Amino acid sequence: MPHTPPLAGGITGPDALRPLLALVLDALGEGAVARGGPVSAGGPDAVAARVRQAVGEVLPEHGDGAAHALRTLVRAVAHGAADPADPLCAAHLHTPPLALAVAADLAASALNPSMDSWDQAPAASELETRVTRVLAREVYPRGTAPDALVTTGGTESNQLALLLARERHGMVRTVCGDTAHHSVRRAAWLLGLPEPVTAPVHDPAALDATLATLAAHHGPPLLVVATAGTTDTGRIDPLSAIAGAADRHGAELHIDASYGGPLLFSADRRHLLAGLERAHSVTLDLHKLGWQPVAAGLLAVPDAGRLAPLGHTAEYLNAEDDTDAGLPDLLGRSLRTTRRPDILKIAVTLRALGRAGLGALVDRTCAAAHDLADLVEKNPRLELYERPTLSTVLFRPADASDEETAQIRRTLLTEGRAVLGRARADGRIWLKATLLNPHTTLEALEALTRLVEGSTPR
Ligand SMILES: Cc1ncc(COP(=O)(O)O)c(C=O)c1O
Repeated sequence: MPHTPPLAGGITGPDALRPLLALVLDALGEGAVARGGPVSAGGPDAVAARVRQAVGEVLPEHGDGAAHALRTLVRAVAHGAADPADPLCAAHLHTPPLALAVAADLAASALNPSMDSWDQAPAASELETRVTRVLAREVYPRGTAPDALVTTGGTESNQLALLLARERHGMVRTVCGDTAHHSVRRAAWLLGLPEPVTAPVHDPAALDATLATLAAHHGPPLLVVATAGTTDTGRIDPLSAIAGAADRHGAELHIDASYGGPLLFSADRRHLLAGLERAHSVTLDLHKLGWQPVAAGLLAVPDAGRLAPLGHTAEYLNAEDDTDAGLPDLLGRSLRTTRRPDILKIAVTLRALGRAGLGALVDRTCAAAHDLADLVEKNPRLELYERPTLSTVLFRPADASDEETAQIRRTLLTEGRAVLGRARADGRIWLKATLLNPHTTLEALEALTRLVEGSTPR
């Protein structure tokens, strides 16, 4: 009889997991040591060769057993990772997850509740109800019955926001800034909506004029999409002024606060989100400035009734008589069916750190961005794009061309020294440091500027 591998759940699950977890943790540590920095050197070919070698046969006739498979594959993936826990890995809104959130996520995997019906997730669904209501109340303190859906991230939240607007009106035309996340245009395409109109959302008077012109054409109802924390610069659109312009022209408003949303936890920075509560829906994404492992997206609305269009029945999951008998109906809380309990890690994080703890992490991270901006400003060989709003800093060598700037990023990446992003702003290419690591030190930021200087052609 072939050996049947143990399961993760039940009374025996923890004992089965313990030795395997010890192996995983060792392999993670060994991989990080072998990498020796933010990313392994050599670029795509070297990484691919190492992974091919480590993986060996993907589907052997007879397996190697759990210990060998875990050790070799986890080690290989850790060795070849771009690790945002390293302060020199700061290209994207790619967060270093908190250890406590990852530990909670392990429990989610072991128990494996599926959030599409109560009989698969009795406690997890109640936890989701409570936590999403509390988070939605942070966004909409004066909402009638604020609620939030748990999503796979900003992309899905933005899609749902456009879908809900379409369902309210039959059709909507999206109006967004040229710095809106690309997922807004994709959502319009996916939902069969007209091509979004690009409008100057950062200039309220010009936005007002654009909305007046669009409204005068008696086209579909308008949905303005503003961004609280743009992907490239971290800027926050003038939310209150945009809400005012939308109101004046009978337009609805969605705010993509995927990046900036967690400023709500910071007493010193919450004011930057003034106007957020005037939106018909708000995207949050705690796998960015919320230190959650992927996925941890949310879509908040001021009144749970706004989610009604997502209601759906499938006899095996939410039969009417089951619902009448008091079994909660979960199917309308997502377009997905099987769904992970991503709320568990979020709930644990909120409870463990509290508002003040999370706010402190937000403040520390934004302060690191100011430190980096100071270093760049003081350095005559570097040029700063602008003072940061959130935790993104755009900079470049003062005398480098666009091509040289882009090459510096690739050199640092393939040499395994730093992972920086790139952004085009005011027609030029900039190096982008998206700082999400609350442990980043001034020394690490100094090292980063030295690396950029050292890679700049003279
Ligand atoms: C402003 C903004 N919105 C939405 C998204 C999409 O989020 P996700 O990748 O979690 O789908 C991003 C991703 O960086 C973003 O920066």
